[in-house]
Amino acid sequence: MGNESSTVVDDSTPPSVLEARNLEGVAKYIKQRSVQRVVVMVGAGISTSAGIPDFRSPDTGLYSNLAYLDLPEPEDVFDIGFFRENPRPFYALARELAPGQFRPTIAHSFIKLLYDEGLLMKHFTQNIDCLERLAGVPGDMIVEAHGSFATQHCIDCKAEYPDDLMKAAVAKEEVPHCLQCQGLVKPDIVFFGEALPADFFENRELPEQADLCIIMGTSLTVQPFASLPGLVREGVPRVLINMERVGGLGSRPDDVLVLGDCDTGVRKLARALGWEQQLEAMWEATKPDQGTREAEQGPPPTREEQLQDEVDRLTEEVDRTLGFSSAYEERVRRHLEGTSSQKTDSAEETTRRTTTTTGAGQNDSESVGGLGHVFPHLARANKSG
Ligand code: OAD
Repeated sequence: MGNESSTVVDDSTPPSVLEARNLEGVAKYIKQRSVQRVVVMVGAGISTSAGIPDFRSPDTGLYSNLAYLDLPEPEDVFDIGFFRENPRPFYALARELAPGQFRPTIAHSFIKLLYDEGLLMKHFTQNIDCLERLAGVPGDMIVEAHGSFATQHCIDCKAEYPDDLMKAAVAKEEVPHCLQCQGLVKPDIVFFGEALPADFFENRELPEQADLCIIMGTSLTVQPFASLPGLVREGVPRVLINMERVGGLGSRPDDVLVLGDCDTGVRKLARALGWEQQLEAMWEATKPDQGTREAEQGPPPTREEQLQDEVDRLTEEVDRTLGFSSAYEERVRRHLEGTSSQKTDSAEETTRRTTTTTGAGQNDSESVGGLGHVFPHLARANKSG
């Protein structure tokens, strides 16, 4: 991947532009060099703290937890050739991944803060969860390189498919068919084997003009997105905030590696910039009922109202978890009913393997609901709580 050496430049190697190869050095660079063109590149890791699994993390990643779909390869769920043959696995998953159920993370709010400060040149995302939009980043600042759930088309005649019918199909885990030619309908997510949107190619050269690049929460394994950091000019600092080192970052003297979770990383950077309070306030404003309250211009909530809100939120969460649970049971039941006796044996084995992977017994898996297989951390939280 990429053509850069993967050697990490020793921290003692003097940087060419930064004062120091750490977030304090980056903050000084931003302030003293009047940085104005920041490109941000992100992947699934910026949304994991919102409760959406990434793809490739061992144990918790989506691809390690799709045994119940009986796919030849986990990636097939997003493969256009496979989808043509069998769209069901994708629609079994779509309901759980569809936007509308998750709150942006503080990392999303940090991108909005960069925009508000007039620093953001472009935000490149591989995510399909639309959380940067929900955090308030304007649509024209975002390149959704792998598409999104926002629209959908027939994969044959390309006719658009109505939003309300799509929502209903996703909710019922049904495969929608084109109203004109009966072809298969798919959200405009870019599957393996499909071209990226024109927007990506129109903006692809922008990293060359950047004066700072921030990369967060991505394994940089999927091309052509993974090539973007390599386009940033030598001598322009690149900051990686990620659980692990990826994509050869660290090989240039002004690369800064911040290995850990994105939320902690952006909080540290905000503190170094003196933006901490603004960042927390911005994230606070992404709470689901916050916008409505501000729009109504009502008085701030009393302590009792705040407590009641919290109780409502928790009740909703429990309801949602129970809903997932029934969906999971239903799916396993359908799966067992729909397979031969030989297949039934392997399905049972699959269920067992899934629960082993999550570290929970079968009953635990059912009690945490259908997302036990895609959100094993929920299973763990449930067990310890
Ligand atoms: P991956 O799952 O491949 O990588 C996520 C990266 O984020 C990993 O390096 C994790 O260690 C890291 N990570 C996870 N949680 C984190 C956290 N809280 N803080 C910091 N880092 C964290 O996801 P992507 O790189 O987005 O494509 O995957 C790229 C594409 O592959 C996706 O867009 C998807 C997938 O197949 C399609 O669906 C077409």
